[in-house]
Amino acid sequence: MPKTLRDAVPSDKKNTPVKAPKKPGKSADKKGDKKALKRAEAEAKALRKAEKHAKRQAKLDALVVPGKFIKARKSKVHGLGVFAVAPIAEGQHLIEYIGERISWKEALRRHPHDPAQPNHTFYFSLDNGDCIDANVGGNDARWINHSCAPNCEADEQHGRVFIKALRNITKGEELFYNYGLIIDDKYTKKLKAEYACWCGAPKCRGTMLAPKK
Ligand SMILES: C[S@@+](CC[C@H](N)C(=O)[O-])C[C@H]1O[C@@H](n2cnc3c(N)ncnc32)[C@H](O)[C@@H]1O
Ligand SMILES: [Zn+2]
Repeated sequence: MPKTLRDAVPSDKKNTPVKAPKKPGKSADKKGDKKALKRAEAEAKALRKAEKHAKRQAKLDALVVPGKFIKARKSKVHGLGVFAVAPIAEGQHLIEYIGERISWKEALRRHPHDPAQPNHTFYFSLDNGDCIDANVGGNDARWINHSCAPNCEADEQHGRVFIKALRNITKGEELFYNYGLIIDDKYTKKLKAEYACWCGAPKCRGTMLAPKK
């Protein structure tokens, strides 16, 4: 058995350097290795991203304890409302605003969900321009009414919306956040009246429409 390539060649050629024969497919192997490495790197990156996402979602899930602080029942302001069933501390996250996530285009197509109440909405606009339609798969958050002097606010975190106490809230108080509704049309008296606010706050603006900037 020749130990080296040189041993394997005929004696008259022994002093000439012998090149190792080209392994068939060696460069193809190299290319394949590179591709496999790239794929492995991409998979590891995707895994890290998924882990980060899952961790973040778990953190957000833990923000609210379902049913601990609030309950929906009849409101003096409008229809159903949501009330504190225990004292709530400022900063507490109370419930997530959930429902089907749809584009604004789809939201316009679906509106109004009830032709008898053309200005009634279960929509929540997201920072990315999409919308949560709480009419589909919504929870009690969809019953929270608007106030011009709210005790809660909507807190959007990574595309998820949580209703959070703006101040300490006593047991029995109704929860409100400022809807901040914005409509492209000119704010005529008629339009403002269509979105009339009945929150009863001393400084009620008379409309749920947010002032235009
Ligand atoms: C997400 S729903 C809130 C639940 C509502 N109370 C119900 O029973 O369907 C939003 C709608 O409630 C009504 N609403 C909420 N806050 C109001 C307020 N301060 N004044 C008048 N109507 C209000 C408006 O019709 C609004 O489009
Ligand atoms: Zn008001």
